[in-house]
Amino acid sequence: MYRIDIGIDLGTSNVRIFMRDKGVVVEQPSYVAYEEKTKNIIAVGAKAKRMLGKTPEGICVGKPIQHGVISDYSLAERMIKAFVKNGLTKRKIWGRPNICVCIPAGVTEVERRAVEDAVVRTGAKQVFILESAMAAAIGADMDIVETYGHMIVDIGGGTTDIAVISAGGIAEGMSLKCGGDDFTEVLIRYVRRKYNVELGILSAEEAKEAVGSVMKRKNDIYIEVKGKNLLTGLPETIKLSADETVEAFEEVSGQIINAINSVLETAPPELINDISKEGIMLTGGGSHIAGMQKLIATRSQIKVVASEDSESMVALGTGLAGKYIMVQEEIRKSQMEEE
Ligand SMILES: Nc1ncnc2c1ncn2[C@@H]1O[C@H](COP(=O)(O)OP(=O)(O)OP(=O)(O)O)[C@@H](O)[C@H]1O
Ligand SMILES: [Mg+2]
Repeated sequence: MYRIDIGIDLGTSNVRIFMRDKGVVVEQPSYVAYEEKTKNIIAVGAKAKRMLGKTPEGICVGKPIQHGVISDYSLAERMIKAFVKNGLTKRKIWGRPNICVCIPAGVTEVERRAVEDAVVRTGAKQVFILESAMAAAIGADMDIVETYGHMIVDIGGGTTDIAVISAGGIAEGMSLKCGGDDFTEVLIRYVRRKYNVELGILSAEEAKEAVGSVMKRKNDIYIEVKGKNLLTGLPETIKLSADETVEAFEEVSGQIINAINSVLETAPPELINDISKEGIMLTGGGSHIAGMQKLIATRSQIKVVASEDSESMVALGTGLAGKYIMVQEEIRKSQMEEE
């Protein structure tokens, strides 16, 4: 079994770091604030996210991970370094650590290499790369090596990873470049169109978390959100209802449902049979939008189980993947010998 010292879930919205024998010790938004001219970093994580839309001239807030892959290498590298350093204050590791990091399924070789390089530069001894759906399954303590079908749907910030897992691999899967942040974006667009009011990202996110729904509720609820009237330029408060968000979210939730159904359609019937018994495991921050669990269950005709410690499941899985990675390496070696 490989000893993994540090597991990293390099998410579009949040980076989570698992330290051996400690659990998930870092959970920080994937944001970096830096000086535009010198590129000097001013803040990372929550502190940088709080600066969104409020920075003075010459200071930028960047999001170096987009749709689960690195979009700005230099910022990403420094952000990962800062978080790993932070994790190492929670648990000392002697010598250079072995690090496992996960990536969405279907990324290009270049995107994969960028993640690997950035992690190597934190001072890692060995870097293992794992598909995030596998990490989620390991984190959820599923018996993934056995020939039995499991299904994971991870709605993150910028990606939705859908996978049917059996016999130690992904039998059928899809990674959509769409997730929780797209719900925020469509809400901003909806409010702009309907009320002529521009919402800041943080206000829209807050409204989404408070009343956002993908299915109509029995009793509608409201939230007051502050934005800027586009005609007068003055601050304006609007009353946003949950039912309005259902309308705003339809396109994005429809995409997610279609993707889940198309993975189910292509998966072998025996695996579907297993999944029907166990249920679809739903995880990721985006899965917290009200009604998501029910919508997926209604439209797929399969029960949906929300994971308990949903947010840290992927990071936990990267940290506990040692045994699985060893089995995979052995399979790969024996295949190479056969060839
Ligand atoms: N209570 C909530 N209600 C609605 N949305 C939520 C809630 N909590 C978190 N989110 C959304 O979940 C998303 C972040 O989820 P998560 O941390 O799983 O993403 P990530 O792992 O960083 O991204 P990815 O896996 O796509 O790379 C954000 O869009 C956030 O707004
Ligand atoms: Mg994620």
